[in-house]
Parts: sequence; C-alpha cells; structure tokens
Amino acid sequence: MSAAEEATPRPARAPARPAAERQAPPMDLAALIEDADTRILVCCGSGGVGKTTTSAALALAAAEAGRRVVVLTIDPARRLAQSLGLEELDNEPRKVEIPGIAGELHAMMLDMKRTFDDIVVSHSTPERAEQILANPFYQTLSSSFAGTQEYMAMEKLGQLRAADTWDLIIVDTPPSRSALDFLDAPNRMSRFLDGTMIRLLTAPARAGGRAGFKFASAGLMFFSRIISKVLGGQLLRDISAFVSALDTMFGGFRERATATYELLRRPGTWFVVVATPEPDALREASYFVDRLSSEGMPLAGLVLNRTHPPASTRLSATRAETAAEAAAETGNGDPAVALAAGALRVHAERMTLAAREQRLADRFTSAHPEVAMRAVPAAAGDVHDLDGLRTMAEALTGPDGDTPTGVPRTRVLPARRA
Ligand SMILES: Nc1ncnc2c1ncn2[C@@H]1O[C@H](COP(=O)(O)OP(=O)(O)O)[C@@H](O)[C@H]1O
Ligand SMILES: [Mg+2]
Repeated sequence: MSAAEEATPRPARAPARPAAERQAPPMDLAALIEDADTRILVCCGSGGVGKTTTSAALALAAAEAGRRVVVLTIDPARRLAQSLGLEELDNEPRKVEIPGIAGELHAMMLDMKRTFDDIVVSHSTPERAEQILANPFYQTLSSSFAGTQEYMAMEKLGQLRAADTWDLIIVDTPPSRSALDFLDAPNRMSRFLDGTMIRLLTAPARAGGRAGFKFASAGLMFFSRIISKVLGGQLLRDISAFVSALDTMFGGFRERATATYELLRRPGTWFVVVATPEPDALREASYFVDRLSSEGMPLAGLVLNRTHPPASTRLSATRAETAAEAAAETGNGDPAVALAAGALRVHAERMTLAAREQRLADRFTSAHPEVAMRAVPAAAGDVHDLDGLRTMAEALTGPDGDTPTGVPRTRVLPARRA
C-alpha cells in the first residue's frame, strides 16, 4: 500500500454482510496522528472509560513519530499527571522530557478558574476586571458551574490553536457523565452568560418591589421569589452586579464560543470516541456518534477500551468448562490435575467475558456500520507511567492484524465464519 493510501484515515464503508456478521472497519490511528493535516484530536466518551489515558497515549505516540504535540488533559489521575511531569494545575504546556524522542511532547492540565480569569482580564478594563473577579457569584460560576469546565476546555483549545506552535493538539474532555456535554457546553454557557436567564431572574429584584409586576409575569415573580429565598437576596444582588459588569463582554463570550465550535468542524479536526465494552458506555458513544454526524464533525472511530481478549481462542468456553469438569471428576485429588482444571475454568470465564464484550461491540457496529473500531485490551494494572502509555499506544496504533492470537485489533474474538 502506498503512503498516500495508508494515510487515509476516513472510515471505510463496511462491506455489505448479514447484520450478525457485519465487521467494523479497522481504525488507522497511526496514519491519523502522523498525518501533517491532522491538527486537533478530541477524545470523548462518558466518565471513566479512559479518555485521559487514551489522549496521553496518543500524544506520546504522535511525539514519538516526530510531531510537536501538546496534550490538554483534564483531571488526570494523580500518578499519570506525575509521570507527565504535571505536579499541579498549570495553565501552560510543559515539555515532558523523554530521552531519544523524535518529536516533542508537551502536557498541560486545565485550570478552569484561571482560564476564566484570563478571559475576564483580557476583555475588560483593569477596574472592571477587578470588580468581576471579586464578585462572589463570579467566583462560584468560574469554579463550579456545571459546564464551566467544558467551556473552558474549548476556550483553552481555541487559545492553543491560535498560538499555532503545535503540529498536533490532543484534547481530553471533562469527566462529565455524558459525552455530549462537551459539545453542548459552549452554547449553554454563552446563553447563560448573555444574561437572558439571569436578567429574567433578577428583573423583579432590580425593578424593586411591586413595580416588578409590570415587567415580570406572576409565574416568574413566584420563581424569582423562591430563588431569592433559597439563594438569598445578597446572591441575587451579586448576580445583578456581575451581569452589569459583564455587559461589555457578552459579545466576546458568544463569539468565542461560536468560533471554537467552528474550529471543531474545520478540516484537520478529528474526534475519537472512547467507550468500555459496557452497555452504558456504548450507549453514550452511540449518542455521540450520531451527534457528530449530524454536526458534520469528523469521527476517526471508536476505541473500545479495556477489553479482555483471551490468550488463546482455540478452545471455546463450553469445551474448556467440560474439560475442567472431566478433569475434576477423574483427577482423584491429583494437585496437577486440579491446577489444570482451574486453568481451564479461568479460560472458560475469560472466553465468556470476551464473548459478551464482542456481542456488545457487534451491536454497536450493527447500529453504526460505518464507524471504525479499535479494541484496546485492559492492562494488568492502572496506566500511570510512560511505559504503560507506550503499551497502550501500541495497542491503539499498531498494525491491525499483527496480534499474538491473530485476532484483528478491531475485535475481541475472531469473527465467526459465515
Ligand atoms: N486499557 C487500560 N487498561 C487498564 N487500565 C486502564 C486502561 N485505560 C484506562 N485505564 C485506567 O482506568 C482509569 C480511568 O481512566 P481515565 O483515562 O482517567 O478515564 P476518563 O478520563 O475517561 O475518566 C485510570 O485509572 C486508568 O489508569
Ligand atoms: Mg479524565
């Protein structure tokens, strides 16, 4: 195959087969991360599936392939952060020293509050910035509002892209329950910050007493009074002050959110959806894949992370189980036979688990036959150092057919013969 053909990571159309035998197209992540046209890679998926680890592993692989890479991690596990040289939240990329590496790996951990503060400072006069930063409502919003993290991740991505010093930016996404939150946050955030909702909520308070009735419906008044009771009048006043102070920035926020969202649509941006072989994670992945396609955002494929392929697939679960029983019956307490029976049982369990995982993967592929797939086996322990990342990178980017058991890396178990 020529280099040009190899460097075509677009998901190939799956061959027409009966649904049960449908095979996911292979995902060529090696070609994708080495391609000079690939500038942004976004790793999405529901919580705990391995987005952060996958982002770091792909970043390492791309840097080892000679590219100048920055990985924007969000909430990395402590030991992984340490192995990337990230001791604390740090809003600037730091170079990870890796002896003999062809390219460069830089890593950073998103500091959402500082990112927000920076926007405020760069968008207002020093006095106004000071007012906003000191506002208690702002402090809550910038550190704990649902969606702030997603919005700031996108904001940071926009900044990294604008700097244009990176061949490749790999973005991890926040640990939200739903993968869709990442795409929805900018919109939600700018809607929130353009103050419509805040204005409505604070209208009666600002208009003062009964006069508010003229402007606000009874329902809204009621709602606002409850809010006022629950949150306290001081908070409402804080919100009001915050909104007035932000007035000059509204356009800025909306424009930024829109621009960054558009960035995700530009050629050179690819999404990698990560899921574990579990119904919930795959359902989230499924929603996300549909959303990407309706938004016209390119999907590299699905990483099926933490699969449990058996060491050998020649002996089925049933045959292993039967053999284990036979051994136990005829072994007469011979410890060697008991050991063999135990090993057969472990193999049977492993085959059963792998079959379940493959079934879930097949179900996903039946619903999304065009989505390329790569299965990444579970490592024995956590992936928290460069060696662990390298092993994972190999599983993510190694040649599709080159596995010890001969099972292609799109799968957990070999395909049934038609
Ligand atoms: N292939 C794998 N094998 C073993 N452990 C893994 C694998 N992928 C991820 N993990 C572990 O799973 C945990 C969650 O991974 P993480 O990347 O933090 O998920 P997310 O970012 O999606 O919340 C971490 O402890 C990580 O080390
Ligand atoms: Mg994470």
